[in-house]
Amino acid sequence: VKKVRTHHLRDWKQAGEKFTMLTTYDVATARIFDEAGVDTLLVGDSAANVVYGYPTSLPVSVDELIPLARAVVRGASRALVIGDLPFGSYQGSPEQAYATSVRFMKEAGVAAIKLEGGVEMVPQIERLARGGIPVCAHIGFTPQSEHALGGYRVQGRGEDAAEHILRDAYAVQEAGAFAVVLEMVPGPVATEVTRKVEIPTIGIGAGNQTDGQVLVWQDAFGLNQGRVPRFVKKYADVATALSDGARAYVADVKSQAFPGADHTF
Ligand code: KIV
Ligand code: NA
Repeated sequence: VKKVRTHHLRDWKQAGEKFTMLTTYDVATARIFDEAGVDTLLVGDSAANVVYGYPTSLPVSVDELIPLARAVVRGASRALVIGDLPFGSYQGSPEQAYATSVRFMKEAGVAAIKLEGGVEMVPQIERLARGGIPVCAHIGFTPQSEHALGGYRVQGRGEDAAEHILRDAYAVQEAGAFAVVLEMVPGPVATEVTRKVEIPTIGIGAGNQTDGQVLVWQDAFGLNQGRVPRFVKKYADVATALSDGARAYVADVKSQAFPGADHTF
């Protein structure tokens, strides 16, 4: 695959081939992840936390996310780039969702957008699909609703709650979503949803049976020094690498070991 398109995710699901997504917020990581074979890059509203330092994802604006998305698009040649609609930019109405998505596509050049919600977002997803905008839905734990959901907690525990997740998954599929993120749902529930719906599922804290997986890169590669969720596996220690580099630089400048003869004209 030279350029990942939304239909490839469905092809991979049908072939039983797992695919990957990482969040990405700038051109350097976009190039690295793209070359490493990451299939889809999500410019997540998690930028609120990991780029802008807000305590939750709620404060981040469309104007803050679009420049990041534009940079990621410039850095990606193979990966499908998806822009995440931030809190308050689409929940109001289908027309609001459409207008915000058009901005992401025209100003940043993303190939698809993502929004949070299941049954209640059907009008928005239908409107976008009708307008030719590929939509990835996001159900289970949805961080933009953390205050309504009563904090960060696993969703879909218990019979009724599991039914609710399945209803959301069917609803977004029928509305025209090309994929759905399942966040923090029990493995067996994610497995059932993945088997029952035709659109690819992308799990985060949802076990290994979903069609794809997504992680926030700062969590996966150790740039966040704070608490990371239990579902994250740490694949690298970027914070230590950067800290060691910065300390060595400071020491070298103080001792005049840098710049040396090699670095001097
Ligand atoms: O904003 C984000 O990073 C996300 C992923 C965790 C799915 O929505
Ligand atoms: Na998000």
